[in-house]
Amino acid sequence: MSGPRLTGERLQKVLASRGWGSRRACEELIAAGRVTVNGEVAQLGRRVDAEHDHVEIDGAPVGIRPELVHYLLNKPAGVVTTAADPQGRRTVVQLVPAEPRVFPVGRLDVDTEGLLLLTNDGELANRLAHPSHGVEKEYLATVATHGGPVSAGAIRRLREGVELDDGLTAPARISQPSPGVLRITIHEGRNRQVRRMCEAVGHPVTRLVRTRIGSLRDRRLRPGTWRVLTAVEVRDLARAVAAPTGTLRPAKAPERPPCRTGSSPPNDAV
Ligand code: URA
Repeated sequence: MSGPRLTGERLQKVLASRGWGSRRACEELIAAGRVTVNGEVAQLGRRVDAEHDHVEIDGAPVGIRPELVHYLLNKPAGVVTTAADPQGRRTVVQLVPAEPRVFPVGRLDVDTEGLLLLTNDGELANRLAHPSHGVEKEYLATVATHGGPVSAGAIRRLREGVELDDGLTAPARISQPSPGVLRITIHEGRNRQVRRMCEAVGHPVTRLVRTRIGSLRDRRLRPGTWRVLTAVEVRDLARAVAAPTGTLRPAKAPERPPCRTGSSPPNDAV
């Protein structure tokens, strides 16, 4: 074991600057033994080098490394969720800064719109993508009907689980904010899951928008634009994937860092 570090910034100051509360609150986290640095429980007075030290709270990595970036993109339809498309279509990584290089967390179909996280934070991305963490995703699906609303029977089937070719879906939260528009909250991440679920109950999707990822939502982010996640949002995501069955409900809208404006109109359904 190495001796105490005498250089670097005080741990509570670093944690406070990354959104973990006041310095006093961060000292309490440290005193309670909830913070580790490079795998060792940190003591009060500990200093860290944000470039090199690995800090965790309750087993969740704390994004203290300045080179890590986290973007929230409102993906427009027609853009592919990949780093490079052999068919030459526009990709989500072309909609965010080229440096540092980031990659999408999970994927949205080419025709699906809405929120997508892009980051170079591999550890957080892996945790978010892992099914064991069951991070909730919420969608607004406009579906085909024969004029009226989706029936209570179809909604019940979606709620309880639908048999798809890769098995029964887990229970979902479903509401119908307006006739033919379903708000669907799931915590699985199967390929084209929402489209296949709706198709299975006789209501093919005509428009699909993701409106929430865990605690992240943003009604004002216009399609084709992105913004940097706040430190609190990164912390909340890290917390959600630290818990064994972490699902986070929506938090209050964040103070907004600047975002880049795109050319397409806003999602009116979001
Ligand atoms: N479910 C789908 O069907 N498509 C998506 O893009 C995301 C979830």
